[in-house]
Amino acid sequence: MAQDMSYHAMLAALDFQVELGADYCISEEPLDRYAQAEAEAERRREAAAAAAPASSISMPKAAPPPVQVVQVDPISDARRAADAAGTLEELHEAIAAYDHCELKKGARSLVFSDGRPEARVMIIGEAPGRDEDMQGKPFVGRAGQLLDRMFGAIGLSRTAPEPDGAFYITNILPWRPPQNRDPKPEEIAMMKPFVERHVALAKPDLLVLMGNISCQAMLGRRGITRLRGTWAETLGLPALPMFHPAYLLRNPSAKREAWADMLELSARLRSLG
Ligand code: URA
Repeated sequence: MAQDMSYHAMLAALDFQVELGADYCISEEPLDRYAQAEAEAERRREAAAAAAPASSISMPKAAPPPVQVVQVDPISDARRAADAAGTLEELHEAIAAYDHCELKKGARSLVFSDGRPEARVMIIGEAPGRDEDMQGKPFVGRAGQLLDRMFGAIGLSRTAPEPDGAFYITNILPWRPPQNRDPKPEEIAMMKPFVERHVALAKPDLLVLMGNISCQAMLGRRGITRLRGTWAETLGLPALPMFHPAYLLRNPSAKREAWADMLELSARLRSLG
C-alpha cells in the first residue's frame, strides 16, 4: 500500500496515527508487555536485595504466641485463700479480700463470727439479715435473740468466761443477700471452703446446723423437718440439724421439737465429757 502513496500522503497518515495515540513503533513479532513489567519488577527486587546490608535481610516471621485465656475458678480461689489462713484473724482477712462473691458489693458489713472461738459448740447459720449487716455480728436480730434464749436454757452463751459454758457462731455466707433472698447454690459453693477452714481453725467438739441452707451446705441434704434432731457427721464432727430460730418465730408450735433438740445437744456435750 505504501508504494501507492505519495510522500506527503504517507506523512499525513502518520500524523493522523500519532494524533490517535499510536506513538510507539510496533515490531514484526508480538510483544508481551505484562511479562516485560514483571521481569522488570523482579530485576529491581534483586538489585535492592543485593544492595541491602546483611543484617537487614528479613527472616521468616515466627508465628505469634497463642493467646492464653486464664480461667479463674472462684471455688479453687476460695480454697487456696482459705487454706493459706493459719488463724481466725487471717481467715477473716482472706474473706475480706475475696472478690468473687457478688453479695460483697451490696453488703454493708462482713459478718464473720461472734461468741468464743474456744467453745465446744459451733453454730452455723445461713446468712446475715438486716440487723446483722448493720452491726457486723451474726444472729443479733429477733431470731438471734431467740437463739440466745434457747442456748441460755441449757447453760450456753456467747460471752461465758469459760469455753465450756460458751458457744461460737458463724454463717455459711458472710454477706447479707439482697432483700434476704435465699443464697444461690454458686454463692454457697464458693464460700464453703471458708466455712470449712473456719471449723478447722476453731476446732469445736460439735456443730449445730441451723436450718435448711446450713444443712444443704454442710451435709448436702435439705428437709429440715426430717433431718432435725438426728445427729449427722460432717468435717469429721458430730453435727445436729435444728430448726432455724427464724422458722420458730413463724411457727411457735415447732418450739417443742426445738426444745427436745436442745436437750439432745446438752446430753451429747455431757457424754463427750
Ligand atoms: N439468720 C441467720 O441464719 N444468720 C444470721 O446471722 C441472722 C439470721
